[in-house]
Amino acid sequence: MPLKIVKFLLLLVCPLTMFAQQVSIIPQPVELKLNEGNFSIDNNTSVQFNASQAALKPAVDFFLNAVNDISGITLQQNKPTAKKVEFVLAAQTAFKPEAYSLTVTPSLIQIKASSYAGIFYGIQSVLQTLPQVRTNAALQVPCMQIMDEPRFKWRGMHLDVSRHFFSADVVKQYINLMSMYKMNTFHWHLVDDQGWRIEIKKYPRLTSTGAWRVDQNDKVWGSRPQAQPGEAATYGGYYTQEQVKEIIAYAKTRNVTVVPEIEMPGHVASAIAAYPHLSCTQQPQLSLTGGNYNNMSSNYCAGNEEVFSFLQDVLTEVIALFPSTYIHIGGDEVDKGPWKKCERCQARMKKEGLKNEEELQSYFIKRMEKFIVSKKRKMIGWDEILEGGLAPEATVMSWRGEAGGIEAAKMNHDVVMTPGSPCYFDHYQAGPEGEPLAIGGFNTVKKVYDYEPIPKELNAEQHKYVLGAQGNVWTEYISTAEHLEYMVLPRMLALAETVWSPAAAKDWNSFSKRLQFHFKAFDAKGLHYSPGNFTVDIKPAAKNGKLEVALLSEVPTASILYTTDGTVPTISSRLYTKPIPVESTQTLRAVTMQNGKIMNLQPVDQRFVMHQAVGANVQYVHQPSRSYMADGVNSLTDGVRGKSAVNKFWHGFSKNNLVATVDLGAEKNISSITLGCLQHYRDWIFLPTAVRFEISVDGKIFTEAATVQNNISVNETALTIKDFTAKFAAANARYVRVTAFTLEACPKGHPGEGKPAWTFADELIVE
Ligand code: ACM
Ligand code: ZN
Repeated sequence: MPLKIVKFLLLLVCPLTMFAQQVSIIPQPVELKLNEGNFSIDNNTSVQFNASQAALKPAVDFFLNAVNDISGITLQQNKPTAKKVEFVLAAQTAFKPEAYSLTVTPSLIQIKASSYAGIFYGIQSVLQTLPQVRTNAALQVPCMQIMDEPRFKWRGMHLDVSRHFFSADVVKQYINLMSMYKMNTFHWHLVDDQGWRIEIKKYPRLTSTGAWRVDQNDKVWGSRPQAQPGEAATYGGYYTQEQVKEIIAYAKTRNVTVVPEIEMPGHVASAIAAYPHLSCTQQPQLSLTGGNYNNMSSNYCAGNEEVFSFLQDVLTEVIALFPSTYIHIGGDEVDKGPWKKCERCQARMKKEGLKNEEELQSYFIKRMEKFIVSKKRKMIGWDEILEGGLAPEATVMSWRGEAGGIEAAKMNHDVVMTPGSPCYFDHYQAGPEGEPLAIGGFNTVKKVYDYEPIPKELNAEQHKYVLGAQGNVWTEYISTAEHLEYMVLPRMLALAETVWSPAAAKDWNSFSKRLQFHFKAFDAKGLHYSPGNFTVDIKPAAKNGKLEVALLSEVPTASILYTTDGTVPTISSRLYTKPIPVESTQTLRAVTMQNGKIMNLQPVDQRFVMHQAVGANVQYVHQPSRSYMADGVNSLTDGVRGKSAVNKFWHGFSKNNLVATVDLGAEKNISSITLGCLQHYRDWIFLPTAVRFEISVDGKIFTEAATVQNNISVNETALTIKDFTAKFAAANARYVRVTAFTLEACPKGHPGEGKPAWTFADELIVE
């Protein structure tokens, strides 16, 4: 382009882009129009409000303090100054709940709303245009006009304070961070097996015993030894009722409702450590130190009346403390085993005509709902409360995917969506190379950003049952405030935009740009955060005899560098521009570069093995499970050997044998065929009982080359990758057919005993 034209365009474009870059508000407001000029906040600025509207005062104070913290300026109040920051509480009908308008001119900042919430959110939008740390610079708010309201009313963040305890100050900081991004519901997971965290006056042992455990924090959660008699229980803590009140008041100023979760009837080993008579066995037990449950009770006995009176007493104190409409009763992951063996539970089932333990759980939850409703509150629980019949007025929190939420909404029940993927913020957000140890899963900031809380399965009439969505933070692997911040930032910001901004207004590139302002704010404030997912995604594509590898990055502004000789990529390595053909055995390594800097702690790498079937098309008799598709239909011939991550490299089959035919494209001379398979006992994945290999010249008549039997025990619990290899006298063939015979059912003693087992395969190697 000739230089003159470029200059002309720059003149035209610059003022607009400058405006566009002046504000980086997250979540993106519904309507935002930037105008020329600024409002300067200084000593000649007065805050104007109707002093008789007492409800406004906390918002006014919040704003005054925020400005003072940044600049040291003490703003005047209701004085006739030239410049005004005006808070207007309008008639109830003028704005929707939580909605606001914000007008900024050189002489006026006006926030209007019909609710405290709206005024507070107008303030938050203004604060996001100011410097984020103490400064002597002028505080300039760009002139603009905003109309804003949330898409969803439940904009939640959850925090598990049982697995690790976080002080009242850390909880407040969490709530404060939530409110900066207009999140309004704090789900406080106060009870779980490894710690009871709320003072209950009538049952002091819940905290004097149930809040403390032997300190095994230096060991990974799942491998902590259980407590022994005589060992001191020194790790833990709890919130006094005074602290709870303080936190609720702190949250209220920030328009955050605190929803307490008092877990039942499972996940309560802490309550049983305090009061053993609440379990089915009634045996004394010590507090759990981590994830080892051997010989421990973690359920309340559903046949014991004392359990119900205990829980009603507990909830009575909880309801008196928490103004929240919703009381969360947990309800997830109840191991029904102890109830099956308990005389009292079985007697209850007989008396109440309950067919199975699922119905016993439903009986338990329905009884608690009746009590909660009698106190003029609503009950919410994890999606397991659907099993055995949903309580009449229950709200369902869908965590095991979206299915529970869909089912409940179809039954005209309210739901909150928090599916593990992508709403669990305890999962990895990058790496996993170089990342702090996490519980598994992979929820990147983009995956969270792209989440749509209303499932396609619901019709327009049912949309209204989706109250919103929530990010969950389980803390088995998170023991410090810094680590907690790291897991939440920036994913919470992505979720905030998902639940606040109109779906049609969402724009990943715009969000990524605005995020840079917030990263600088986190840096300035000393907050820990993940810089985003710079992990390069390696995507092989095998087709028509060829193997190509695409390299992908979530970061729109970054570039990808790679090597194929196994060396660590540097800034002078090859720049990725288009899919790379793979024609020999090699290890590909890749990194992301931004602003001339490599952003990964470690490169990702993938080894490709070259063999005669690489790139060949695969025909299955039964398709692999949709959940385990690896890189697509031809994963068996993509040259990629599987690693431990079960959802990445492997094709999974359940109920059916794996029967695949591979077309080598032309007759080839072959003497060895291998099928790579996985056993992962914990995930119900077992090696096939045998693998049969057949070859053919015409694709019609096949002859058996060999059948290889499995020689590894079904009870092998360590992750095992086994190659089933047939070697035979060299023969010509164009087609190879492989049959892996699936183990009929999970073996005796396995948690899935008698239920279908999985067969997993990664590669069919032909040589
Ligand atoms: C859950 O993650 N167990 C609700
Ligand atoms: Zn029982």
